[in-house]
Amino acid sequence: MAEGYEIIDHTYDVIVVGAGGAGLRATLGMTAAGLKTACITKVFPTRSHTVAAQGGVGASLGNMAEDKWEWHMYDTVKGSDWLGDQDAIEYMCRNAVPAVYELEHFGVPFSRTEEGKIYQRPFGGHMSNYGEAPVERACAAADRTGHAILHTLYQQSLKHGAEFFVEYIAIDLIMDDDGECRGVIAWNLDDGTIHRFRARQTVMATGGYGRAYFSCTSAHTCTGDGNGMVARAGLPLQDHEFVQFHPTGIYGSGCLITEGARGEGGYLTNSEGERFMERYAPTAKDLASRDVVSRSMTVEIREGRGVGAENDYIYLHLEHLGSEVLWERLPGITETAKIFAGVDATKEPIPVLPTVHYNMGGIPTNHHGEALRPTADDPDAVCDGLMAIGECACASVHGANRLGTNSLLDIVVFGRAAAIRAAELVTPGATQKELPKDSADLALSRLDKLRNANGSKKTSEIRLAMQRTMQNNAAVFRTTEVLTEGCQKIMEVDASLADINVADKSLIWNSDLVEALELENLMACAKATMFSAEARQESRGAHAHEDHPDRDDEVWMKHTLATIGDDGKVSLSYRPVHTWTLTDEVDYIEPKERVY
Ligand code: FUM
Repeated sequence: MAEGYEIIDHTYDVIVVGAGGAGLRATLGMTAAGLKTACITKVFPTRSHTVAAQGGVGASLGNMAEDKWEWHMYDTVKGSDWLGDQDAIEYMCRNAVPAVYELEHFGVPFSRTEEGKIYQRPFGGHMSNYGEAPVERACAAADRTGHAILHTLYQQSLKHGAEFFVEYIAIDLIMDDDGECRGVIAWNLDDGTIHRFRARQTVMATGGYGRAYFSCTSAHTCTGDGNGMVARAGLPLQDHEFVQFHPTGIYGSGCLITEGARGEGGYLTNSEGERFMERYAPTAKDLASRDVVSRSMTVEIREGRGVGAENDYIYLHLEHLGSEVLWERLPGITETAKIFAGVDATKEPIPVLPTVHYNMGGIPTNHHGEALRPTADDPDAVCDGLMAIGECACASVHGANRLGTNSLLDIVVFGRAAAIRAAELVTPGATQKELPKDSADLALSRLDKLRNANGSKKTSEIRLAMQRTMQNNAAVFRTTEVLTEGCQKIMEVDASLADINVADKSLIWNSDLVEALELENLMACAKATMFSAEARQESRGAHAHEDHPDRDDEVWMKHTLATIGDDGKVSLSYRPVHTWTLTDEVDYIEPKERVY
């Protein structure tokens, strides 16, 4: 064990790691249920990446046109390309309407219709009557819905007296000899102290790992920390090969231009001025699901119909909507287009490109948010003491491709579900078992090793090599050759971590050390993504394999589990997709061809 680190001990009923929408919804629910709850977060809660979610939260309120949660469920299953677990999808879509009304009552300032109802807009893949025509399902606060939700949930958490540990970096989980999770070790950036948080339940709510790629819409803090911790605890990561590219990242900067822009009537054109989505998705057109639109844009560019000097981007037109609509409904992206593309969206099109946006895969869980430790006998076995919610988790409600607005929905529905489950499992204040003697060893030896790393490579250098490998070798379209090369390259980059240099040795505000810790987490995610993708010999949702262009339900309708060994190598196994619903009020939706 690393010597010389003094440890400050804490005991809670529950610990939540992360203060984005999922972490805050869980924290407030657990606190309200009388559980002594600590929320540990590496950034101030309202700086969490949920703040960047724009277009809306999905729920079939039916405020603008008839809608039903069963149609929402159908669209989500279809969007997932039949990799989603239908029991979990039923749970999410059924609970969407009460979840949004709960947010309204918490104080989220939704935009309003003339009658004062919550305003809803169309979004990609949201259809009425089992795929017939686009429907308005995205409940929006202009184009700042995530911002509105995050601030409201933080205020509600404070109102309930939740305890926050802000700018604490969680390093590793505490696992005991029975395989139970007993808490987490964290480092307080502000004063350099080390903290051991002991709890009956530890909830990962750490967000996605977009920063494994070179160009993404994710904040710099989206470094897969929970996934990394879980992988180092010997637990599997599920379906990491499914990485969502959002069709409209700003060319060059990657900043998000919400799909709500197309929901309000925006459309894409190529260099010939053609609205090409009409060819690829005759019914939904520009509002087909994201994987379909991103692939179509990529084909247009590959076939020489991209816009610009290098023919390497696509135009998003909003100018016909008029400045009144843009400033009322889409003020955020109108500003973003000005700042990051130098474009006045009221007058000219915005240059856009598919950009990494979301991770469908993550820590496998059931629909209560309990993390899984699948075995051959029981693929749904639970890992005691560990939960995961939000983007770091894989419930799996998004399957192979997430529908826009289902991420904000996921965080509030499963944040709440985790709080309900924790209240069932944990008696407030109950005595906890002794921790194993080596409870801090894994975390402290990791911290110590990186802190004393005197190799020849900067963290930024290794990170860039990883990001370029992911961008080039695990992109919108994949081939066997490119993925095989990707596996080899990512292992070379991984090996170069042994030669990392962390110049600053301090424990106080050492961002060099933070970035090195984050890089290790990203690397675990990147390896799981590359190897899982290399193995999956079919095309499904966001995994478009040019050597295997068809979906193969016979062989591949199963979840990938990637486990990283002590030697850093990735091994793969699989668990079945749930082919049942939660209640008998809806039937299992049989797989069929996915057309928009
Ligand atoms: O396009 C958007 O506003 C993004 C929404 C989402 O990812 O759900």
